[in-house]
Amino acid sequence: SRRSVLGFAAAAGAASMLAACGGAEGKVSAEHVLSISLNQTETHPSYLALTKFGELLEKGTSGRWGARVYANESLGAQQEVIQLVADGAVDMAVISSPQMENLSLRFRPLNLPGIFIDSDHQAAVLKDKSIVGELFESLVESKNIRVLGGFTQGSRHLYTNTPVASPDDLKGKKIRVQESDVFIALIRAMGASPTPMAYGEVYTALQAGVLDGAENNEISYVTQRHYEVAKYFTLTNHLVGLDYVVAGENTLAKMSADDRGVFLDCFTKAQDYFVRLWKTETEKAIETMKEAGATIQETDPSVFGPAIDSVAEQFLATAEDEELYTKVREHEAAKGIAR
Ligand code: GCU
Repeated sequence: SRRSVLGFAAAAGAASMLAACGGAEGKVSAEHVLSISLNQTETHPSYLALTKFGELLEKGTSGRWGARVYANESLGAQQEVIQLVADGAVDMAVISSPQMENLSLRFRPLNLPGIFIDSDHQAAVLKDKSIVGELFESLVESKNIRVLGGFTQGSRHLYTNTPVASPDDLKGKKIRVQESDVFIALIRAMGASPTPMAYGEVYTALQAGVLDGAENNEISYVTQRHYEVAKYFTLTNHLVGLDYVVAGENTLAKMSADDRGVFLDCFTKAQDYFVRLWKTETEKAIETMKEAGATIQETDPSVFGPAIDSVAEQFLATAEDEELYTKVREHEAAKGIAR
């Protein structure tokens, strides 16, 4: 099929890219170096946490295993990379939840608006095996993909090249979304024209006027320098996003049981480090946005809220979806946090 031909070409490309990069930086000296694909810059918390993961892994396995993070989509955009992990050409990757939904609809409830109140609620759910345990293993046999855990994307907001106070201001505006039915419906419900595109292409598209805006968290807005080309940041808080960290099961199977235990332990430590970084880096990003002259606009929840809520209802297709959605919303960790 067309898809597998493209997949093969991409895998071959990634393999030669890995070979070319291997040793050039010379920092990771482990016997086996895991490749980790990321679409963020080297200043993003995901890069910092995964780099730390590699260091811990190398120490913990006495140099048998290490990891190198390939930043800035250098191994491909997430939609291609998830395929490369399935094929075993890339060992690990950070994959935004809508891309996982494209592999299996079972992941969809976790992408919906309203499921998570905030990042703390989300982090607690991700550690609760009774909720995510089975789901995270559900692609191991069919796709060679194991979900190790997640990194929060925080609250996502809208940003544009003109001020936005209500859905009327979004009429005819082309807003970039991730390649996802949920995000397409969400941005349409909010009043704009959704344009699916890979993350790494957004800056240029905003600059060229192909897009009028996009939506993301403060850290991405700043690390991607989108504030330079879309300076109105509207606090729509449309959902709390989630990145999964995935690994190829075939790769994990090459480790001894002891090393695999160390691997999982290092990942937990990296995840905790990420949580700390997320808070401090978000505060820093807000300062940077302000200094750079971005306009941060509050919105009353009643302005976009009803449109956002309608999307969650529209996408809960099965009884299992409803069950997962409700279980998460009513989780222990959600108690006491205001919606
Ligand atoms: C966030 C998220 C990425 C995702 C990106 C996007 O930055 O962390 O994984 O790819 O949003 O909007 O595409």
